Amino acid sequence: MKKWIQFSKTEGETSHQAHTNMPNGTFEREMGKEGFFGPATHFYHTHAPTGWTSFEGPLRPHAFDFGKAKQDGSCPLKAQLMLQNASCKISMWSTDKAMDHLVRNGDGDLLLFVHNGDGDLFCDFGRLPYTDGDYILLPRSTMWRIEPKAKTDLLMIEAVNDSFMLPDRGMLGNHAIFDTAVLQTPRMDDAFCKQQTKAGAHDPWTVMVKRRDAISTITYPFNPLDAIGWKGDLLPVKLNWRDIRPVVSHSYHLPPSAHTTFVSRRFVICTFVPRPMESAKEALKLPFYHNNDDFDEFLFYHRGDFMSRDNIHEGMTTLHPCGFTHGPHPKAFARAEANAGKMTNEVAVMVDARDALDITDAARAVEWDDYVKSWGGHTAIAAE
Ligand SMILES: [Fe+2]
Repeated sequence: MKKWIQFSKTEGETSHQAHTNMPNGTFEREMGKEGFFGPATHFYHTHAPTGWTSFEGPLRPHAFDFGKAKQDGSCPLKAQLMLQNASCKISMWSTDKAMDHLVRNGDGDLLLFVHNGDGDLFCDFGRLPYTDGDYILLPRSTMWRIEPKAKTDLLMIEAVNDSFMLPDRGMLGNHAIFDTAVLQTPRMDDAFCKQQTKAGAHDPWTVMVKRRDAISTITYPFNPLDAIGWKGDLLPVKLNWRDIRPVVSHSYHLPPSAHTTFVSRRFVICTFVPRPMESAKEALKLPFYHNNDDFDEFLFYHRGDFMSRDNIHEGMTTLHPCGFTHGPHPKAFARAEANAGKMTNEVAVMVDARDALDITDAARAVEWDDYVKSWGGHTAIAAE
């Protein structure tokens, strides 16, 4: 048996509630455990915690332009692996060609996020059309291929030896933040039946299988996507971010965990979609400074203007390893106050990983080295 040392104490000048009515001229910082669910303390600083003048050593904030990663469009198993740990692999893959073979991941569930493009995904279960902004969850060992209608850029997230599930919706009820009725599943339609091998025809197909990170090739004299039916509750599902109806508050900046979309054992995936910014005068309108000390935080910027970041464009990513405080960029405070109550238009995918993410050479090759300096010059705000 174990339990947290849990009681609330206050010292010095503070706000009465987190993220509201901060003492004049202060920056709030949350130091917390368990990814916004555990014990936490809020500090009220007179200088921005990101106001460093130098940052030496192996720990630092990172930004990468995943859109510039070199690509081999022939096979998703050749996708560029960008970040990884024992339970999570994050890759980027681009192609404009129809795949001439099938792939199958024997190492865990795979989640595709369609950054750009549209087309069809064919798998054991049928055909699933896709478009930008779709998540496609492929259970471990699903055989699949894609036929793009437009160049397709996929962010690929693998739950190694694990599954993707939905978070507990608790007080929100069963139908927030999206009704599971919006989840789409593949259909055995005419296009699916048409790609099946005709009786007696010689129609060789290969299946590239990844297991323990090694690739094996299985060849058949027919297309193995030949099922004429299926029944069950283990299925690929598709969810577009446009069907996510975010939880918001006019007077309280909700933590990223309120936007959790999928969970596995050692990481969670959150989706930030357009929402009205907080409008109450006393409310913080940006992510609070924090060191989320039990998690490494990865963000993929998909669409829109990124309110709390400067010099970040679509297809870029950031990695904030645990161990230091991060938070909004300098110009964001004035922008946020000026836009109180208006809609944000940003769409981003976040991976919060319980274990440290390693950066691959492919990611290093597209890293923006000066990202660590991008908070420069912002150390204090004028008291009201
Ligand atoms: Fe964060």
